[in-house]
Amino acid sequence: MYDNSTDLRIILVSMRAVDIIIKKRTLQELSRNEIRFFIQGFTDGSVTDYQASAWAMAVLLNGMTDRETTELTLAMAESGEIQDLSDTVDIALDKHSTGGVGDKTTLVVEPVVSACGFKVGKMSGRGLGFSGGTLDKMESIPGYRTNLTTDEFKKQLKEVGLVLTGQTGDLAPADGKLYALRDVTGTVDSLPLIASSIMSKKIAGGARRIVLDVKVGVGAFMKTLKEARALATIMVKIAKLAERKAVALLSDMNQPLGFAVGNSLEVKEAIETLNGGGPTDFRTHCLEVAGHLIILGGGAKTLATAKQRAEATLNDGTAFDRFRKLVSAQGGDVSYVDSPDKFPKAKFIEEVSSPRGGYLKAVDAQIVGETSVDLGGGRAKKGDPIDHAVGIVIHHKVGDRVAKGEPLFTLHANDKAKLEAAKERILKAHGWNAKKVKPLPHFYGTVK
Ligand code: URA
Repeated sequence: MYDNSTDLRIILVSMRAVDIIIKKRTLQELSRNEIRFFIQGFTDGSVTDYQASAWAMAVLLNGMTDRETTELTLAMAESGEIQDLSDTVDIALDKHSTGGVGDKTTLVVEPVVSACGFKVGKMSGRGLGFSGGTLDKMESIPGYRTNLTTDEFKKQLKEVGLVLTGQTGDLAPADGKLYALRDVTGTVDSLPLIASSIMSKKIAGGARRIVLDVKVGVGAFMKTLKEARALATIMVKIAKLAERKAVALLSDMNQPLGFAVGNSLEVKEAIETLNGGGPTDFRTHCLEVAGHLIILGGGAKTLATAKQRAEATLNDGTAFDRFRKLVSAQGGDVSYVDSPDKFPKAKFIEEVSSPRGGYLKAVDAQIVGETSVDLGGGRAKKGDPIDHAVGIVIHHKVGDRVAKGEPLFTLHANDKAKLEAAKERILKAHGWNAKKVKPLPHFYGTVK
């Protein structure tokens, strides 16, 4: 919680939100107190949503220094309680992705790491811009609760060993509010806003060792390796400053991860993976992230050994079993996990054939993500309901040779006009080459 000493209160009382917005708009560096004033005011409602939106846009356009980003992170973390998990677990492990398309990694990695004997408690987010959100995905499972209280979080972590919930109202509430605003005001893809959003949650949530999955490419908020590396570096630095240990992986997000994009479609793909199947790229990705978590938890010395441990849990059913336990602990109907065919289907399911033959050189993840949002899988404005059944299943990845007339993708829609619009867009998301194309790499490196 904020330090509300008399001196600080006197300084803060003389400030005005509009001056801080103008200062950022005119490229000036904000002081620690200005950042705290703004975030504190936004949390208690004295700084309005429209002021916060204007300020977020100024930050997006003009950036922040590393010092400002660090101050912003701490101010957001301290906008509520800082959870201490030391009485609950030996080492609190956590992972977080910077946001991607088809990124259902948490749904597999958490149970895998749990099956390896570690406790993992995670607070996830909702869809943001064109990127999907873990909470929206998990809410496809009828009854699944994403609003655990802090006490429930701790109890479940202790007793069940894994938790996957939303930010409780009292943990980093400033981020909870700003996240929802950013989603609908075009202020998502800002390095300081992403870094502070993620790290404030991690600090407030009590994680001690964190794997950060920093996505790079057209379907990520960081489009270039340089930007992604800068984001990874500042987050790892902030973790160190807050006495946490973090490793950041730079991973490809030019094409969707796996095949499915859309809430229940992704849950089904995650369940398939937990059952030992699933798309190769997605499985590879999950094993890499899980491997780093296992190393951070002290469960292996090398990444190869850690990944072997992780892989065994996918093959022997223990990770699947952990996922069932998670769903059941949070009130979800486990029969959907056991029989994924039970998930409600969209009214229109259409397989679209390839209009030509050749090698795929692109499956533009941003277009696929935006199309999923347009079909109803994401939000156009704050609080919009989500349609869990809609989305896209692509059938090929970059580098694949595809014959004319072969199935290229399948659309799941609840509105005929939206289906037609989506067909056009997803066809355009596919780029072609007559000559052989190399598959995309999964990873570009790590920042420690
Ligand atoms: N994930 C978050 O929690 N926040 C962001 O800003 C982006 C991804």
